[in-house]
Amino acid sequence: MHKALLLLNGPNLNLLGAREPGVYGVATLTDIVQTVTARAEAHGFRLRAEQSNHEGALIDWLHEARSWADGVVFNPGAYTHTSVALRDAISAVALPVVEVHLSNIHARESFRHSSLLAPVCIGQISGFGARSYVLGLDALLGYLGVDDD
Ligand code: DQA
Repeated sequence: MHKALLLLNGPNLNLLGAREPGVYGVATLTDIVQTVTARAEAHGFRLRAEQSNHEGALIDWLHEARSWADGVVFNPGAYTHTSVALRDAISAVALPVVEVHLSNIHARESFRHSSLLAPVCIGQISGFGARSYVLGLDALLGYLGVDDD
């Protein structure tokens, strides 16, 4: 085990805090990265956080993660609903990926109800605001066999 995790965020998530706070909350991505990093480190894992608005960059990070990460917490943003390429990347790297969403995508517009990525992830957490990331991390650590605190 590398004892390292990737926290990956897709398009528009760099604007968290300012972006539709009624839907996505007031926490910034920096706040979320700090919280998740501290929790990962408390379990003895390094965490690298990346965000991109570009599908190809997200694919590149997933490919790269093969060589150094044990798993991925991934909020793919709108690419959740559209990206066959990201789905193929997740399948290709064969790392455990937890899909997370701040909002409950199943309670929103119908085009958000389906995820092309969820079937190739170990699971999906949706609707708990910034806490979705913490729950996603805990789910990934549990999958990796790391004991709860
Ligand atoms: C999101 C949900 C997506 O439908 C949306 O496109 C986002 C954010 C969420 O975290 O709730 O950008 O992934």
